[in-house]
Amino acid sequence: MEQEKNNVGIKYIELYFPSQYVCQKKLEKYDQVSPGKYTIGLGQQKMGFCGDQEDIHSLSLTVLKNLLEKNKINPKDVGRLEVGTETLIDKSKSVKTVLMQLFEESGNSDIEGLDTTNACFGGTGALFNAINWIESSSYDGRLAIVIIADIAVYAEGNARCTGGAGAVALAIAPNAPLVFDTKLRALHMAHQYDFYKPDMHSEYPTINGQLSLKCYLSAVDTCYQLYGQKFNKKFGFSEAFTMKNLDYMVFHTPYCKIVQKSVGRCILNDFIHSSSKDSCFENLTKYRGVSLEDTYENASLFKEIERACVEASKDVFNEKTMPSLQIATNVGNMYSPSLYSSLCSLLCNKSMDDLLEKRIAFFSYGSGLASAMFSLKVTDKRDELEPLIRVVMDCYKHLDQRREIEPQDFVKTLELREKRYNAKSYSPESPVADLFPGTYYLSNVDDKFRRTYERKT
Ligand SMILES: CC(C)(COP(=O)(O)OP(=O)(O)OC[C@H]1O[C@@H](n2cnc3c(N)ncnc32)[C@H](O)[C@@H]1OP(=O)(O)O)[C@@H](O)C(=O)NCCC(=O)NCCS
Repeated sequence: MEQEKNNVGIKYIELYFPSQYVCQKKLEKYDQVSPGKYTIGLGQQKMGFCGDQEDIHSLSLTVLKNLLEKNKINPKDVGRLEVGTETLIDKSKSVKTVLMQLFEESGNSDIEGLDTTNACFGGTGALFNAINWIESSSYDGRLAIVIIADIAVYAEGNARCTGGAGAVALAIAPNAPLVFDTKLRALHMAHQYDFYKPDMHSEYPTINGQLSLKCYLSAVDTCYQLYGQKFNKKFGFSEAFTMKNLDYMVFHTPYCKIVQKSVGRCILNDFIHSSSKDSCFENLTKYRGVSLEDTYENASLFKEIERACVEASKDVFNEKTMPSLQIATNVGNMYSPSLYSSLCSLLCNKSMDDLLEKRIAFFSYGSGLASAMFSLKVTDKRDELEPLIRVVMDCYKHLDQRREIEPQDFVKTLELREKRYNAKSYSPESPVADLFPGTYYLSNVDDKFRRTYERKT
C-alpha cells in the first residue's frame, strides 16, 4: 500500500539547554572589555555552558528520551533517526549508534540514518534527510526523529563570549502541524576557512571571526534571492518577492546582533530588487543604484548601509524575528540547534492566533560553508498545534530555573573541560545535583575511552 506522504513536517519538538549560565554583563567586567560590548554590541544576556559531566552523547540522550516519553512515542514506531552535530567524540562511531541504547528494550534496531556534520548546518542536513526519506519510495510509514545538538566553546579571547550549548529533537511525519513547503529550498555551499576544527587535541575551533560574519551575511543575500525566485515560481507570483511574503523569519544565531543585521540585509535586497514605494525604504533612497557587490567591495559603505538598513528594518525585525531570539540571547550560540531553538522561542512568544496558518522562513548557516533558506506553514488546526506548543513551553520554562555561575567559575569549568578532552580512565567531577530532572550525564570513561551514562531522576 502506498504510504501517506502529504504535509510532511514537524509533529513534536523537544528542547534542552544546560541548567547553568554565566551573565554576559559580569563577563564583560571579568574580560575587561568596554561595558556593553557583549550585551549591546553583540546582543547577548546569558550564556549556557556544560561541566565535564555533560557531552554530546548525554545531551542527545536527554533530548531523545524526553521526546519519546513526553509524547508517548513507542520506540518501535521510529523508522529513521538522524543526528546533526559538529561536536565529535568517538569520530568513526556516530552519536546515532550511542542513541540506539534507547531502542534496545523495544527490540527495534531497524532504524535508518546516521550523523551529519558541517559546523552549524549539520542539523539542517539531517532534517532534509528525514523529510526526503518520508517523501521517498523507501518510506515505511514510521516516524523520523532528528536530534540536533552541540556544545559551543571557544578558546580564551574575543569569541569566547559567543559560546553556548543545547539540543533539539524534531519528530518528522506526514500530516504534521508544522508543514514544510515542498520544492522551496534555496541552498548556497562554498569553500571557506572561516571556522573549522582541524586540531584533534582541542575542543576549540580555529576561527576567523570577521570572515565568518562576512560569509554569513553574503550567504543571507544569496539564499534570500534564490528563495524569492523559487517562491514566486512555486506560487505563480510575478511581483518581486519581499519580506512581506513571509510572516516570520528565524535565523541561525551566532549572536543576536548579527540576526538584526541579517533582517536589514533582507530589506536591502528588497530595496534593490523591488520598485515598491514601501515606507521602510524612505531613508534608503540615497542608496538607489548601489548593488550588493558594491557593498562587499567597500568596507565603509558596507557599514554605513548596514546601519541604515538596521534602522529601516526595525519594525519588520520587531514583528517577524525578534520573538525568536529569547533563547539565543539567554543561552548563546548552541551551534546546530540554534536555528531550531529560535523556532521554539517564536512558538512560545506568539499567541496561537498569531501562529495559525502563518509561514515561517528559516536561514541556516554552517561555516565552511553550507547554508540554506526554506520555510514551513503552520496548520490551521488549533487542536493539532496545541500539544506541540505545550511541550515546548514546558522546556522553555527552564530558562528561569537555571543556576547562575560566576565568570571565574565558568572559566574554571572550561579549564576542566580542556583537561578532560581526549582523556580516559576518569569519572567526571562537575555536580549532577543541579541538572534538570530527566537529564543524562556522563558517569565514567574507562581505560578504552568507552563512556557510560546515567539519568538524573
Ligand atoms: C563576533 C566577534 C567577531 C566579535 O569580536 P570582536 O571583533 O572583538 O568585536 P567587535 O570589536 O567587532 O565588537 C562587536 C560589536 O560590538 C560593538 N561594541 C563594542 N564595544 C561596545 C560597547 N561598549 N557598547 C556597545 N557596543 C559595543 C562593536 O561596535 C561591534 O558592533 P558592529 O559589529 O555593529 O560594528 C567574535 O566574538 C567572534 O569571532 N565570535 C564568533 C563568531 C561566530 O560565531 N562566527 C560563526 C558565524 S556562524
